[in-house]
Amino acid sequence: MNSVFLATLKQQQSSYTPIWLMRQAGRYLPEYRKTREKAGSFLALCKNPDLATEVTLQPLRRFALDASIMFSDILVVPEAMGLQLYFSEGEGPKFNNPIQSTLDIDALKVINPEIDLAYVMQTIKNLKQELPKDTPLIGFSGSPWTLACYMIEGGSSKNYEKIKAWVYAHPEQLHALLDKVSIAVADYLIAQIHAGVDTIMLFDSWGGVLSESAFGEFSHKYLAKVLTRIKLALPQHQIPSIVFTKGGGVWLEQLNQLECDGLGIDWTINIAKARSKTNKIIQGNLDPVILSVADRPTIKQQVTQILNGYRDANNGNADGHIFNLGHGILPTAKPDNVAYLVDIVHELSKR
Ligand code: CP3
Repeated sequence: MNSVFLATLKQQQSSYTPIWLMRQAGRYLPEYRKTREKAGSFLALCKNPDLATEVTLQPLRRFALDASIMFSDILVVPEAMGLQLYFSEGEGPKFNNPIQSTLDIDALKVINPEIDLAYVMQTIKNLKQELPKDTPLIGFSGSPWTLACYMIEGGSSKNYEKIKAWVYAHPEQLHALLDKVSIAVADYLIAQIHAGVDTIMLFDSWGGVLSESAFGEFSHKYLAKVLTRIKLALPQHQIPSIVFTKGGGVWLEQLNQLECDGLGIDWTINIAKARSKTNKIIQGNLDPVILSVADRPTIKQQVTQILNGYRDANNGNADGHIFNLGHGILPTAKPDNVAYLVDIVHELSKR
């Protein structure tokens, strides 16, 4: 595949800096909202391979993006393990039966992703047929820690008091849960690789709520476990991987130890500083709010700062950087701004 995104991830030279956007298929696009309505709900959309394929393709038709990401959600894994998932308007995801005890951990199903998440595998197979031949497909999963946050909190959380009660009072039980989730996550990603994704990404969205030592013990350790299990299962079929810990800029040296190719960074760390702390590919790091509130000159100035900051910190070489947002795109993002962003990154980064 002739892909600037994949070349960059493989530490090769490229002719410009590739860009894709976390949550690039989403509510900021009117055609997404229409397809979601047709599906009936967000979860029904995730479970309908034809419509999930359609929404994956929507942003690529509008913008010159360098990669696609399969449309799904990280929470389909805990759902497949037996938690009852629903999305309430304005409140985000919820589980009816969150994990409250070790009995609940024992009751979690050991998943067979080819069967229990067959709809995701079908979406990937559809996409491999329908994507332009040089557009790579990113598969993904939540990190064990981030999934455990939802499984124990029962939904989004402000202070993570329920899971932190386990961190500080019942760490061994939490480790039992994280072990079980790690196996499910690794097996899910292995199945995605078999189905045809070109890269995998782990979203550790809530790693940043931990202290440094707790991050090592409860998140980093299980990111490592997932990556190792995948490598061992597929010795002949290594594909690049990216890990994104939101709030992880302060732990880049630790994240650099992981067996992955790229690290995502949010907008709170200067990309030049990030470059000095890891030798992996860096993905990031524009503040997503800019796409909702800023005008073109401001977007251009912010993009210039990131591109130049990276290049200057990398001995004048712009390779090794994948442009992205520092977190998912917001529903209020203006599609015109997104179009401008993609074009200006390509233009300003031309070698
Ligand atoms: O990037 C893409 O285009 C692929 C799709 C994707 C979605 N969720 C679709 C989605 C991906 C990669 C995710 C990952 C995901 N899901 C994460 C990790 C990334 C991150 O943002 O930190 C997390 C934490 C979740 C859990 C989740 N799903 C939350 C907290 C919410 C509600 C938040 C909100 O914006 O309302 C979702 C719902 C969700 N997942 C939507 C989309 C497009 C919006 C739901 C809708 O259409 O109503």
